[in-house]
Amino acid sequence: MLQYIVPISTVGRSRSRSIRPNSVDEVPNLYQDELVHLFLGNSLEYYEKWETPIVIISDGAYGILGFEGDTTNHLDLPAWYEPHIKEWSKRATPQTTLWFWNSEIGWSVIHPILEKYGWKYVNCNIWNKGKAHIAGNVNTVKIRRFPVVTEVCAHYVFEAKINGMPLKDWLKTEWKRTDLPLKKANEACGVKDAAVRKYLDSGHLWYFPPPEMFEKLVAYANKYGKITGKPYFSSDGLEPMSAKEWSKMRAKFYCPHGYTNVWDRNALCGSERIKIPENNSKAAHLNQKPLDFMKLIIDASSDKGDAVWEPFGGLFSASLAARLMGRKAFSCEIDPNYFLLGMNRFKTLTSFLF
Ligand SMILES: C[S@@+](CC[C@H](N)C(=O)[O-])C[C@H]1O[C@@H](n2cnc3c(N)ncnc32)[C@H](O)[C@@H]1O
Repeated sequence: MLQYIVPISTVGRSRSRSIRPNSVDEVPNLYQDELVHLFLGNSLEYYEKWETPIVIISDGAYGILGFEGDTTNHLDLPAWYEPHIKEWSKRATPQTTLWFWNSEIGWSVIHPILEKYGWKYVNCNIWNKGKAHIAGNVNTVKIRRFPVVTEVCAHYVFEAKINGMPLKDWLKTEWKRTDLPLKKANEACGVKDAAVRKYLDSGHLWYFPPPEMFEKLVAYANKYGKITGKPYFSSDGLEPMSAKEWSKMRAKFYCPHGYTNVWDRNALCGSERIKIPENNSKAAHLNQKPLDFMKLIIDASSDKGDAVWEPFGGLFSASLAARLMGRKAFSCEIDPNYFLLGMNRFKTLTSFLF
C-alpha cells in the first residue's frame, strides 16, 4: 500500500482531515476491474465518457467545509452543483434515478436547479441518526435550536417526454387524436373504468399504464381510431411504440418490504469507518456514507449490470456497494488522498460484511 504523510491541514468543523501521499506521482489516476471505473480527477471531465446511468448517487458539497472545495454555506451550493446537474441531465434517460444526499437546507437550495434541468421530485428520505449522534453533548442554550441528527436523501427521476410532452399529456393527446370517446379506453383495456380514471387522467390521479395495458390501448387506437391520424402512440411517427419500449419510459423502482421514507440508523462508527493509515483512531473522511444505505438505494433503482454513477467519490461507498451487487460503477474523486484510500477498499472487497 502507498504511504501517507499525516495531517497537514484542517478543514470542516475543526477536525483534522488531510492526509497526503508522499508524492502525487505515486497515485494512479485510474482503478478498474471488470465492473468498476474509478478516476482521479474532476467528474465534470468524465461524464461524457461514462456509460449511460441508470442510477446517479450524488454526495457532494454540503456547505459546511466538509472537504477541500466544499463551500462555507448553503448559499454557494447552487453555483457548485449546477454544472454537474446540467451534465447529468444530458446523459440521463427516463430510466435514470437520482439520489441526492445533503442537509435539509442544502437540498432545498438545489431542488429548483434539479427541476430546471428536468429532474422530477419523487420523495425525500430522511436519515435519522438518533439521539446517540449528539450523545448529550449539545448545549441548546448556546445553539438555540433543536439538535440536528438527520441528513436527507432526496429521490428524483428524469422526466420522460415524448414530442416535448410529459407522458401524462402525451397519452391523453394521442387518445384524443383518434376521435374515439374517452370511455372506449376502458373497453380497450378490458376494465370497467380504470383506464379513463388512471391512465388518461390529466391530474394527480394519473397512473403510468403498465406495459400490457399500454399495448392494449395502442392496439385499440390503431384499429378503431380515425384512419388519417395513424399511427397512434408512436414516438417517431412511423410505428406505434411497443410494450417493451414503453416499459423503458420510467425509472426502475423496487421497494424492499417494510421500508418508509424515514431511515433509522446510527451514524457510522467503529470498524465501519475508514481510518487514516498512520492513525487508526482518526476517521479518514467526514462524509463517508453507510454501505447498507448505498445498497438499499442501488437495489431499489437498478438491476444487475446497470451503470451506477458516483460523481463525488470520497471513499467510493456507492461504487463499492454497486460492485458488490453486480452493477457497473463509474466514479471520480478529485483529492488524491481520498482516491487512494477509497481505491484500497476495492482491493479488500471480501472483508466487507453486508
Ligand atoms: C461528501 S464527499 C463523498 C463521500 C462519499 N459518499 C463516501 O461515502 O465516502 C464528496 C467528495 O467529493 C469530492 N469532490 C468534490 N468535487 C469533486 C469533483 N468535481 N469531482 C470529483 N470529486 C469531487 C471531494 O473531494 C469529496 O471527497
